[in-house]
Amino acid sequence: MIKQKRKSKVRLVLLIIFTLLGFYNGLVTRKYTVKTDKLLGNQSIRIVLISDLHSHIYGKNQSKIANKIKKQNPDIIALAGDIADDMVPIEGTELFLKAIKDIAPVFYVTGNHEIWTGEVDNIKEIFRSFNINVLENDYKEVNINGIKLVIGGVDDPYIIRYKRPKSDWHEEIYEAFLNIDSSSSYNILLSHRPEEVNLYNSLSFDMVLSGHSHGGQLRIPFILNGLFAPDQGFFPKYAGGLYEHENYTHVVSRGVSFNPRLPRIFNPPEIVVIDIQGK
Ligand SMILES: [Fe+2]
Repeated sequence: MIKQKRKSKVRLVLLIIFTLLGFYNGLVTRKYTVKTDKLLGNQSIRIVLISDLHSHIYGKNQSKIANKIKKQNPDIIALAGDIADDMVPIEGTELFLKAIKDIAPVFYVTGNHEIWTGEVDNIKEIFRSFNINVLENDYKEVNINGIKLVIGGVDDPYIIRYKRPKSDWHEEIYEAFLNIDSSSSYNILLSHRPEEVNLYNSLSFDMVLSGHSHGGQLRIPFILNGLFAPDQGFFPKYAGGLYEHENYTHVVSRGVSFNPRLPRIFNPPEIVVIDIQGK
């Protein structure tokens, strides 16, 4: 009888711990290391990837999230879309950009929610006013730590529906990056959508950085990597994590969105840190 009671208590405690862990929504830092023979053995680059902020504010003037990013000492900060939102005031985005703009060079692409504002050009101007590199189906060549990088970025596909209804998003992107030389540089693409793997496979990028999936909202450790993601549906293949494809490495951020009406379960908001190292 006493043994039985003790067992029940242990079960209850385990259930409480499991539930607390499941609903933990503090910012976490997730790290990936990617090896490439395009870099020398002693060379490396550190990228911090942030996606899907949706203008949420983390601490006074975004200090909580900015301090965590700064602590990682990144060479580049990549913003993979949905940083601003069509339903949330822009203030959170402005505070965020102000807080991170001097940590490292920042590169940004739009997500669907920025385009849904109907004022995507104004939003891009706000990003530019904080010295953020706005990539819109184009790329920049940069040299970091003596390493030649091509950093490309694409607008979210909704840009076509809102601004260029007679165009083809896939075609535009394919043409935009046709002339990139993949032999002498390490090439990184920012694109909000994780599900466009066939398109990315046809381009000359070594790494693609995405968001949009919010980690599939609900996860069960070791069993289910996401229940539902926009544009992928139930049990999304690319809910979040690192995926090795034929021609590139894909890092999909689970994002830093926080919406009390849509709880994240076993899926805390994450700051992604990627170390690209020479072999
Ligand atoms: Fe999105």
